[in-house]
Amino acid sequence: MLEPLSMAGKTAGSTSRLGLAPVRRGRAGSAARLSPAPVFAITSGKGGVGKTNIVANLATAITKMKKRVMAIDANLGLANLDLFLGVQPTFTLADFFAGAVSLDKVIVTNREGILLLPGASGVQEITALRHEQKAALLTELDVMTDELDIVLIDTGSGISDVVTYFTTAAQEIVVVVNPEPASITDAYALIKVLASGYDQKRFLILANAVSGAAEAHRLFATLSEAALRFLNVSLDFLDWIPRDPQLLRAVAQAQTVVNAAAASPSAQAFVAVAEQFVRRAKSIKAKGNVQFFFRRMLEGGKA
Ligand SMILES: Nc1ncnc2c1ncn2[C@@H]1O[C@H](COP(=O)(O)OP(=O)(O)OP(=O)(O)O)[C@@H](O)[C@H]1O
Ligand SMILES: [Mg+2]
Repeated sequence: MLEPLSMAGKTAGSTSRLGLAPVRRGRAGSAARLSPAPVFAITSGKGGVGKTNIVANLATAITKMKKRVMAIDANLGLANLDLFLGVQPTFTLADFFAGAVSLDKVIVTNREGILLLPGASGVQEITALRHEQKAALLTELDVMTDELDIVLIDTGSGISDVVTYFTTAAQEIVVVVNPEPASITDAYALIKVLASGYDQKRFLILANAVSGAAEAHRLFATLSEAALRFLNVSLDFLDWIPRDPQLLRAVAQAQTVVNAAAASPSAQAFVAVAEQFVRRAKSIKAKGNVQFFFRRMLEGGKA
């Protein structure tokens, strides 16, 4: 039986349960005064285009900018973000949903201070979770993300319940494409579902493993023309990450390229994207309309 985790007793200035800075609390110390971090979902139509590398490297680069980051591994089939971040989680979301542990036991911190909420292989249907399970997750995460500057989600690929659920609840949806033709057609199919079935209108396109700016812009042009013409959705170009053998070398050593080869072209590109994310996160917060990510999830992921 799941034990709902109460917010009671969390008062202004109390010590963070994540061991970060003291928890910022509204005067009343109530959930309504929380200001959860902006959430960026990193997703793709096709698998294997670089999402996990992107999340791990952006989390690393943003942490180096002295911002507090949580990475959520929502790739329930092939959860492997922990390898890139160099941590070995004891528990996963599945243990939390089973009522075995509280969420602060599931979240692990790597040596750089990045928080990871590990993927829950075994929880196949997040939308099929009981209301109390989602409510408990919501309550815990609202509190935890209040202490953070950015939350990044590695969604896994394709058009599954899990992907649509996490992406539609985020403030920014980043769709990753690479030069393989199937990555463009599958990205288009994903955007079509998110736009027509889930009322999503904003998509940032990140071109990965490209030969240069020209190829990145070609990929973007192909995708954005189709999206505008057939879906009436206008896409935004976020940035591009070069194809980089140094990234592959870092992967072979289970490291992020940002740590292993900071001067490499891909590491420098990740830093530039990280700076954009921090700017975007600030402007999302400044607009004062940060929605409670996990409350939105609970309510069905509608914007
Ligand atoms: N910029 C890059 N340059 C060279 N190789 C890359 C680049 N980005 C990713 N790769 C390689 O592409 C492969 C897939 O990367 P990754 O596992 O991050 O993709 P993914 O989208 O998370 O996959 P999945 O959908 O299976 O979770 C890996 O071997 C990775 O090292
Ligand atoms: Mg992956």
